[in-house]
Amino acid sequence: MAYVARDRPADKAARYAELEDEILAVLDGEPDRTARMATVAAMLADAFDHYFWTGFYVVDPAREAELVVGPYQGTLGCLRIAFGRGVCGTAAAERRTQLVPDVHAFPGHIACDGRSASEIVVPVFDAAGELIAVFDVDATTPAAFDETDQAALERLLGKVFAG
Ligand code: SME
Repeated sequence: MAYVARDRPADKAARYAELEDEILAVLDGEPDRTARMATVAAMLADAFDHYFWTGFYVVDPAREAELVVGPYQGTLGCLRIAFGRGVCGTAAAERRTQLVPDVHAFPGHIACDGRSASEIVVPVFDAAGELIAVFDVDATTPAAFDETDQAALERLLGKVFAG
């Protein structure tokens, strides 16, 4: 069942908890990182109405401080983002989640799709604590994400990529 914005915050937290179990069950025994990222993006995008663009920007080992687009669901995304640029680049540089209620008020925001109004970007670490990617979700409505999304995504991504 999809969570919709009119549902209560408690319903959203419960939906994230169910999804975490489902995603971990699907990924059990699968070591490939691309397969894991593709599954996380597909299952989350399908479950939540407020997810408009859902996906990963991966740390490119071949370039200094640069992200390259990874598995995603949604309209065409930018291919590369330098650390420090836009919301994704800021999350990568600071290694901290960025919760942005109004993307137009965020200095240097990169508008891949003009319909994006708010977003959350969560850094993704491996078991050694190395930054491997950021996970970016955009919505077409302002302030679509809150601390419930942040806590659930940080927990889920920790289990999937550092667990
Ligand atoms: N919103 C991001 C850019 C990536 S896309 O929106 C898919 C940013 O400012 O980092």
